[in-house]
Amino acid sequence: MPESSAWWRNAVVYEVYVRSFADGDGDGVGDLPGITARLDHIADVGADAVWLTPFYRSPMADAGYDVADHRDVDPLFGTLADFDSLLARAHDLGLRVIIDLVPNHTSVRHRWFQEALAARPGSAARARYVFRDGRDGGALPPTDWRSVFGGPAWQRVPDGQWYLHLFAPEQPDLDWSHPEVTAEFHEILRFWLDRGVDGFRFDVAHGMAKDLAEPLRDLGPDQVHHSIVGEGWEGRHPFWDRDDVHTLLRGFREVVDTYTPPRATVAESWAALDRRALYTRPGELHQAFNFDFLKAAWNPAALRATIDRSLALPRATGAAPTWVLSNHDVVRHASRLLLPPGTTPDAWLLSAGTAPSLGPDAVRRRARTAALLLLALPGAVYLYQGEELGLPEVAELPDGVLQDPVRHRSGGARKGRDGCRVPLPWNGEGPSYGFGAGAPWLPQPAAFAALSAEAQRGDPDSTLNLYRRATRLRRAVPADSELEWNEQSDPRVLDFGVGPLRCVVNVSADEVPVQPGRRPLLSSAPLPAAAHVLPPDTAVWYANALGGSAMHAGRM
Ligand code: GLC
Repeated sequence: MPESSAWWRNAVVYEVYVRSFADGDGDGVGDLPGITARLDHIADVGADAVWLTPFYRSPMADAGYDVADHRDVDPLFGTLADFDSLLARAHDLGLRVIIDLVPNHTSVRHRWFQEALAARPGSAARARYVFRDGRDGGALPPTDWRSVFGGPAWQRVPDGQWYLHLFAPEQPDLDWSHPEVTAEFHEILRFWLDRGVDGFRFDVAHGMAKDLAEPLRDLGPDQVHHSIVGEGWEGRHPFWDRDDVHTLLRGFREVVDTYTPPRATVAESWAALDRRALYTRPGELHQAFNFDFLKAAWNPAALRATIDRSLALPRATGAAPTWVLSNHDVVRHASRLLLPPGTTPDAWLLSAGTAPSLGPDAVRRRARTAALLLLALPGAVYLYQGEELGLPEVAELPDGVLQDPVRHRSGGARKGRDGCRVPLPWNGEGPSYGFGAGAPWLPQPAAFAALSAEAQRGDPDSTLNLYRRATRLRRAVPADSELEWNEQSDPRVLDFGVGPLRCVVNVSADEVPVQPGRRPLLSSAPLPAAAHVLPPDTAVWYANALGGSAMHAGRM
């Protein structure tokens, strides 16, 4: 099959955060049987594929992103047989399954790390990780590198050596220049490909390669780790977005390409936009998450500029553009996109969602407007579970229930990612709103009852039904359709055509004049009788009747 017709180029991929989707056994934590029982919801939303976050054996120091055994399912989540059942059911429903590979680090409980701890400094067992002697007689870490979660990126072991962990201390970084590391991960890929998975998301794909030549370089006091990384380093940062990471990605791709039908590969790479295109060159990964779109300010100029750049860069390498607004690491966009300029999501979370407080009507409205923008864009769209319900961030979680290591590693300077990970409401009843028989691992707010999937299914005006209709209309858009801007539109709106759809989004607090479309297909809010105005914070899809001189190709 030529790559140009691959299914992932215009897919809707639905992220399942495994511990929060559905709890099959009543222990309060989501699991694989719970997901299998609810896969029909994902198919009904109109997704083409599911991305499952890690479900492997893990002591859960970072909610499963600390993997102790890559070839087994953690008992908290089920068994390998449960995984096989999930995969079979997904395939029956026409859903592909993408799983999460975590190659940058392992858990401290991984066999290799246990061997490394038991072995001497300088031993072969330690060479798979990054062990070094400290400075000043060993008492100080080898460098000033900071962990993404806060604090130093080095942890000392009893014999005095230090090991590198870019994330939590329970997540020691592997040394990818070691041939056994490469060989092992290629075998892990084959293990899951042989089981029938349809693709992989590569966690921290921009972090695996490191410059470990002695002496290791200090980075100085201005280290920024929380968002786009490696900016300004042009591939020569000691560990982020290095040029040599691409050799490793090509190795993954070679393994994946030995399977038919072709399997999908997507990079989690928080690299700058122009560098991110490098991850999707021919022979590397098929896609990379578009975090620039996720981070773009909610104003028409910023959105249009980001959309243009996002379309141009992957196309330069033949890859399809991707779009994402929410995932398990960021504040849910229904809330985030309402924060005033100057209020960071982290600051807002620390205020427990009070500065400013966001009214439910405004959240609902913004979630719906954003949904129609997102789903109109050409390329692959990644949805995060619960966004189809318009779920807000749960910013008011009390300190006592927080579990994300970001919270304590940052000394409380950041609240962490729990607020987007609250278990889903499936119906309006019981102690967990249908999530499972037990108390959920994070408490759900009372507002979740009215937002449950069941409550929304029967309401034609619900956000769930908006997503359902939008994904179905989207199917009429041919893959690789070009986006064309309507240059005659008011600057407060985004107005573009993609194949048979025209999408107009009022990204302002004013009612604005629009060129009425031929036939409204779908709108995020009720439309006024006067067809030539669009209310504030509203998106509408029309049958696309524009074209020719009014339209301008959205390429750079
Ligand atoms: C990725 C994951 C995040 C995890 C980190 C370390 O960014 O999305 O949840 O904490 O990698 O594995």
